Amino acid sequence: MSKAPFSIAVIGCGRIAGHHCRSIRKYPELKLAAVCDLVPDKAKAYGNEFSIPHFTNYREMLKADPSIQAVVVATPSGMHFEHAAELIEKHKKHVIVEKPTFMKPSQLDEAFRLAAKAGVGIFPVFQNRYNKAVQRVKQGLESGELGAPRILAIRVRWCRPQRYYDLAPWRGTFAQDGGALTNQGIHHIDLLRYFGGEVKKVNSLMKTLGAQIEVEDSVVANVEFENGVIGNIEITTAARPDDFEASLSLVCEKGLAQIGGIAVNELQIYTPEPSTCSVSSEDFSKNVYGHGHEKLYGEIVSFALEGRPYSVSQKDCRATLNLLHSFYRSDEERKWIDLSTSQESTRLGRPNEELAKLYRI
Ligand SMILES: NC(=O)c1ccc[n+]([C@@H]2O[C@H](COP(=O)([O-])OP(=O)(O)OC[C@H]3O[C@@H](n4cnc5c(N)ncnc54)[C@H](O)[C@@H]3O)[C@@H](O)[C@H]2O)c1
Repeated sequence: MSKAPFSIAVIGCGRIAGHHCRSIRKYPELKLAAVCDLVPDKAKAYGNEFSIPHFTNYREMLKADPSIQAVVVATPSGMHFEHAAELIEKHKKHVIVEKPTFMKPSQLDEAFRLAAKAGVGIFPVFQNRYNKAVQRVKQGLESGELGAPRILAIRVRWCRPQRYYDLAPWRGTFAQDGGALTNQGIHHIDLLRYFGGEVKKVNSLMKTLGAQIEVEDSVVANVEFENGVIGNIEITTAARPDDFEASLSLVCEKGLAQIGGIAVNELQIYTPEPSTCSVSSEDFSKNVYGHGHEKLYGEIVSFALEGRPYSVSQKDCRATLNLLHSFYRSDEERKWIDLSTSQESTRLGRPNEELAKLYRI
């Protein structure tokens, strides 16, 4: 096994890229090799902050430093597939892909097919899974401490005013972003499955209530799991004037678990062992994205040094994307959607060449 650090570059120097750069830097086994953004000032700012080379063209970046082994794809969501597919197929790089990973399950299938052929890995980012509160509840479910779950509820009440959607052309579009359910809610949709298992059917209603955008900023939905558990969801970015909560509760056979806080970071109620609440909570007041990215790179170290499989598999990620699409399909078709059929939404991830051209090199 090589002793040289596992070399990682980042493409897309926007709001989330700094979390990747700082997290990579925490591990001596990893090297933050270079950053790239189409916008020269953004690339330069990150390059200067981390004292590493910066580029405006990722092909030139990879040519300049052939030792780069993995690339973080932190570009607009609708470009993840195109960028990752090229990095995998043409450049044979591992890819660490920001949420929602890809816009469609079919893109995920194709990306994994290309990755298997190229002999590289795809690492989807679902950093909330690493939150202490989430891990404590997961442990309580697996050990039987909570008993079987009966009802799962999710409530995300965040504030994204028009000026947020106006930050960049990709935001608030079905082609490149998706609305509250995809952009903000994907972590919580993922946690639904993480805690409750696979979903059998869903019924949802979406609205755009607080901004002039084509995507939904509010959704309410009902869920029935394969194991008979039932659930409900309220996710909105139309709360005003602030972000209030991203919470999740589980009514279980032997007790109640409630995770709240701004980003499922505080274990507020845990009846089997109430004293665990304080030690299983984290303060995210200065960082809504939490500490999960750092823990994720611990997994990348294990992969790089020992070849240990990453915790989010293709099957796992595909099921989350399929669940995501089922909510849109339910709203589109105005009926319950059975997840055993795997049709995709007609809106989420639909092609828009004009937008895509903005983010191509
Ligand atoms: N895990 C999380 O909690 C979390 C939080 C925020 C964002 N994200 C995800 O990260 C991605 C980026 O989000 P953001 O908020 O940082 O967006 P952003 O708009 O702030 O940044 C995206 C950057 O990508 C750059 N870019 C676009 N095409 C490029 C290309 N071909 N080469 C190089 N750079 C290119 C843009 O110029 C921009 O600077 C999205 O997919 C988003 O869903 C995840």
